[in-house]
This record gives sequence, C-alpha cells and structure tokens, in this order.
Amino acid sequence: MSRSPYIRLRVEANGRRATSADIIASVQREILGGGLPAGSRLPPVRVLEAQLGLSKNTAQAAYDELVARGLVEAREREGVFVLASERVGTPAPIATPPLPLVVPPPLSRPDAPGKGGIALSTVFIDPELLPTERIAECARSVLREKMPAQYDVQGYRPLREAIAKRLSSRGLDVDADDVVITTGSQQSLDIVARSLTVRRIACESPVYAYAKLLFESLGSELVGLHLDPFGGIDLAAWDRALAQKPSLAYLIPSFHNPTGYSYSSAELRGVLELCTKHGVAILEDDWGSDMLSDGDYRPMLRMLGGKDVLYVNSFTKKLLPSLRVGFVAAHPSLVPTLVSMKRLSTLGNAWLTEAVVAEFLDRGYYDTHLAALQKALDERYAACLAALEDLMPDGVRWTRPGGGPTLWLDVPRAIDLAALEAHLARRGVVISNTSAAFVGDGEPHLHGFRVAYAYLKPEEMRRALTIVADALRGLAR
Ligand SMILES: Cc1ncc(COP(=O)(O)O)c(C=O)c1O
Repeated sequence: MSRSPYIRLRVEANGRRATSADIIASVQREILGGGLPAGSRLPPVRVLEAQLGLSKNTAQAAYDELVARGLVEAREREGVFVLASERVGTPAPIATPPLPLVVPPPLSRPDAPGKGGIALSTVFIDPELLPTERIAECARSVLREKMPAQYDVQGYRPLREAIAKRLSSRGLDVDADDVVITTGSQQSLDIVARSLTVRRIACESPVYAYAKLLFESLGSELVGLHLDPFGGIDLAAWDRALAQKPSLAYLIPSFHNPTGYSYSSAELRGVLELCTKHGVAILEDDWGSDMLSDGDYRPMLRMLGGKDVLYVNSFTKKLLPSLRVGFVAAHPSLVPTLVSMKRLSTLGNAWLTEAVVAEFLDRGYYDTHLAALQKALDERYAACLAALEDLMPDGVRWTRPGGGPTLWLDVPRAIDLAALEAHLARRGVVISNTSAAFVGDGEPHLHGFRVAYAYLKPEEMRRALTIVADALRGLAR
C-alpha cells in the first residue's frame, strides 16, 4: 500500500537545536492557525529527527504528547495524522478573488456520436470505415524506433515533408517549411486568428459553429457572408460585406459545413478577386476537397490563389479522430508567427502521433484508404438521397452536395426547430442545433439542420429519417 505524502514541518527554535517542546508548540500553532488541516500527515519520526538534527526519541516524545492532547492520531503502518477536533474547528478558507470568466459558449457537443440515440447530424465518419488496423500497424512500427527526447515545434519534419509532397501532387505549391502541424484544424484556426492584429473576420453564414465561437472568444468581430446553398453565392452581397475591411475571410469552399455546399469554379475565382480588391487575406478550411470519388478532387482557393492563401486541413475526420493531427500551410513569411503562437499554446505536439501519421502517408496507405472511403460515402450519400425522396413531406428541401459527409435539410418555417429537436431526442434521434452557426442577429435565412450520412449506415439513416418525417408531419398539424 502506498503511503500518503507528508507535510514538511517548520519548527521554530530561535536558532538553537529544537526540543520536543518546540515541536509540540509549532505543530499546535500550525493546527490552530489552519496551516495543517485535518487529515494532513506529519513527517515520520526518523525524517523529522534527521531534518532537525535531533537525538533519537525526541520527535517520538513530541508526537506522543500531541496524540495525548488529541491533536493528532498515529495510524499503524500509515503514519501520524492531524485530527479534526472541536478545538481546531474547520478553518475558513482564505478568500481569494473569483476568476472573472467570459460567458461560456455552448461547449458541449450534443451532436457527437455515442451520446445515446442516432446521431443524425454528426460530422464524424463511421469508425468501421476508418483504417484502425493499418494505423495500429504503423504505430507498432514507429514504437520500435527510439523515442526522441525533443520535439519540433513546427511539427515532425518527415510528416511536413509527406504533407507537402501530397499537396504538391494535387497542384499546390507547398514546401515542408510552409507547413505547421497542429492539433487538428481547430488549432490551425486558433493560431491564425490569434496572430491577427486586426480582429475582424469574415465568414460564411451559416458557418462551422466552433470556428465562429472560437473567433468570438478571441475578441474578433465577425462579418457574415450570406451563403444560400440552394441559390449559390451572391458575389455582389459578398462585395458589400468585404468592403467592411475584415483582415481575414475564413472560407470552407468544398462540402461546406453545415450546408454541404461547394463553390463553383467561377465562385472560387470571384471570391479571390473580391478578397484581392478589398485587401482581405484568405484562410481556406479544406476539409472536403478530397472527398470526391475516382481520384477527382475539387479545385481549391489555395490552388488558384497561391501561397498567400492560408490553407488548413486535417487527418482527424478522414483518418482517425483520436489522432488529432491537422496542419496549416502558410506563406513562408507567416510561418514564424504561426509557430510562435503554437509554441505559446502547446509548445509542440506529441511526436508519437505525428510519426504514426507520417508512416501512414509514407506507406501510401492514405490514398488507398481515401479511395475506399469515398466509395463508401458515395453509397451512403445515394442511400440518404433515396430515403429523403421516399420519406419527406412536401415543403421540405435538401441540398445535393454530390458526395462528402453532410447535406442540409431545410424544413418549413412553421416548424419550431427547438420543438423538433426535443421531439426527435425523445424518439432517439439527435440533431444539431444550428442557431450558433449563423452570423449576425437577424432571422437566419435557412431553417433546418445538418444531415450527415458518413456516420450512419444506410438502414440507420432510413430509420432516423422516417422518424424525422413523422415528426415533421405531426408538428405541422
Ligand atoms: C469545417 C471544419 N473545420 C474544422 C474542424 C475541426 O476539425 P479538427 O478535428 O481537425 O480539429 C471541423 C470539425 O468538425 C470542421 O467541421
């Protein structure tokens, strides 16, 4: 049995060698003053004697007396402990000022899978579609290497090289030195946003809610870029919004979360031109350009705009969420600032996970995995569309992203979304509350939620959508 740690005693003896009486007086003073709370363990006799240079049995005599006075008790083989006594009472804690906290944004993830019920809105991918065996194989092989004592703040170089090689093969001009490895895209967004001197950020509305909440938590003012996934981008409206001179536009051009929308090539070019015109830097969150099947991928802003476009991507969703590895590719002039921001928040990432992902990429497993994943997502997407066509009542519409992980289901305005969410939860279907995704105070232009087909198997999806359709009919009456 491990013993409790003991508290080092301070025994006052006015410069001479301490006596038993000094020990008793010091302990008594500390206990009465609240410095030795009930339950604290006193040093073992031999430790105290060595500490104070006492002759044998002096400390033991002091402890015996403290026991006799009812201040401490000796527990066999455990040590000597301070007792809670009426004489001592419970000392009032010393009042320290409360921590001034910001009003917390909704930080729980109600749509995360595993919370009970069918997670209809989760952006995670079905774990059965993830290559856990091969990741374990890479981890075993990495563990046979000698663990380095140091880490690279910018990120494990072989991983940065593998990422640069991969992106270069897709037409992006990226060197290993431009890449900063992060704890998922979320940290990439964080270090970019914290690097800004002008904290005004434009983003699509609706937008990935945790980006919006993050930017707001850092004191950024947000400029909404109205995104209607049923009508496309109104470039004239974006022109007016960008004229407010945000320093950065945070954009998700492929399989936009939460609507599933992907910018057309003309929209990509139009947005780049507007940002150039207004002097707005671009942060591209590319979680989706490689979610098309048959080796196709969508063009990226980073591809068309070059190194000045900050480019963020991650292995967390498509490879394995628990690895928490993402990255940002930046213009070389920005890298030192981003690395400094990363250093300030985490000092660096764990070498082990970085090395496992590097090994996975190096063996060519990632491309094989993506090809199989895309095929599976296509099948689930088709099954989801078929279920929607079969089941949804009139007045309900949905986006058709053409693949990827999610679409947007828009329901009639007469349906109260909070009531729908609660109603579905009672029937075991969990949908996300998307109110936090809209920028600005006005009535959101969309009225619905994310339907994610990457997590659910087709039969589960149909079951969930049957429940949604019934609920919509019931609540409409
Ligand atoms: C669009 C988008 N960007 C970034 C993130 C954060 O991802 P990561 O897990 O890589 O931190 C998410 C997570 O859902 C997301 O949907």
